[in-house]
Amino acid sequence: MKSSKSVITGGAGFIGSNLTDHLVKNGHKVIVLDNFISGKKSNLSHQNKKDVKVVKMDISKSKNLNRHFKGADYVFHLAALAQIIPSIKNPKKYFENNVLGTLKVVEAAKKAKVKKLIYAASSSCYGAPKKFPTSEKDKIDLKNPYAVTKFIGEEIVMRYSSIFKMPNISFRFFNVYGPRLDTSGQYSAVIGTFLSQIKKNKPLTIVGDGKQTRDFIHVDDLANAFLKVINSKNVGKIYNLGSGKKISINSIAKIFNGKKRFIPIRPGEPRNSLANISKVKKDINWKPEISIETGIKQLLKN
Ligand SMILES: NC(=O)c1ccc[n+]([C@@H]2O[C@H](COP(=O)([O-])OP(=O)(O)OC[C@H]3O[C@@H](n4cnc5c(N)ncnc54)[C@H](O)[C@@H]3O)[C@@H](O)[C@H]2O)c1
Repeated sequence: MKSSKSVITGGAGFIGSNLTDHLVKNGHKVIVLDNFISGKKSNLSHQNKKDVKVVKMDISKSKNLNRHFKGADYVFHLAALAQIIPSIKNPKKYFENNVLGTLKVVEAAKKAKVKKLIYAASSSCYGAPKKFPTSEKDKIDLKNPYAVTKFIGEEIVMRYSSIFKMPNISFRFFNVYGPRLDTSGQYSAVIGTFLSQIKKNKPLTIVGDGKQTRDFIHVDDLANAFLKVINSKNVGKIYNLGSGKKISINSIAKIFNGKKRFIPIRPGEPRNSLANISKVKKDINWKPEISIETGIKQLLKN
């Protein structure tokens, strides 16, 4: 049987490299397009050249996208600048990279007549939600340039789907964690920060009182949803992808079992975040399998 050809933009990043592993395990030939602005070559170094071709390019600037999309069955568009505070410092860079980049990718996917294009959207589109669990129909409230650019990207993907009948899907990720999560940066996600602190025997820095809650989804569960959606008939749909469970930052710190140090609250961050995942569960027959305790304990073993 002919194997599927999948293009992953941002495939050298945290989520993209994990998705690459899952696609290869499922018999796909993968082309990774990445400019390595935050992605790392080492995230893919275990892969075989026969299965994964890595092309260094900036998707928002390249004139060569069509060449790489030719013959592609699936496109997973994950490439983006993905941090909130830097987006406030440099919105133009975020617009050029994330919005123009998405337009270029969608155009190339349209030309290649792909079977499905999956877009990595973000739960940041809900801002500080008032309804919990938050569903896809709840209010959009864009609080920073990152959220704006990711949401415009989603609009582009969805409009191309309705106007040009493209088979597009948008997944709004909640807080994703798992192997290769960035642990180094000043703005890395809380689980990444805790991992690096625990390894250095430093106290875990808790923002505010630590009672704020988040919905964490393991990257393997996320990748399974990608695999399920490409084989489903659904197109032109937006789905929340979270665990559907909330946990406080204090409880996360408890799983890490380290000393705590409280630091001042950061403006603009939501107090609580929780995904309503009934739509995705029903439509693609998917559910998250990895509990936060199991996921974190696995990370601590490595
Ligand atoms: N991690 C999360 O919890 C989360 C939550 C919501 C949405 N997302 C979205 O998921 C996607 C992947 O996020 P991640 O956490 O793996 O981040 P990441 O920074 O590890 O991955 C992004 C990848 O895109 C690449 N990239 C950025 N701009 C590019 C460009 N112009 N051309 C080519 N490559 C480019 C980077 O080098 C990197 O490899 C992003 O679109 C992000 O907005 C992530």
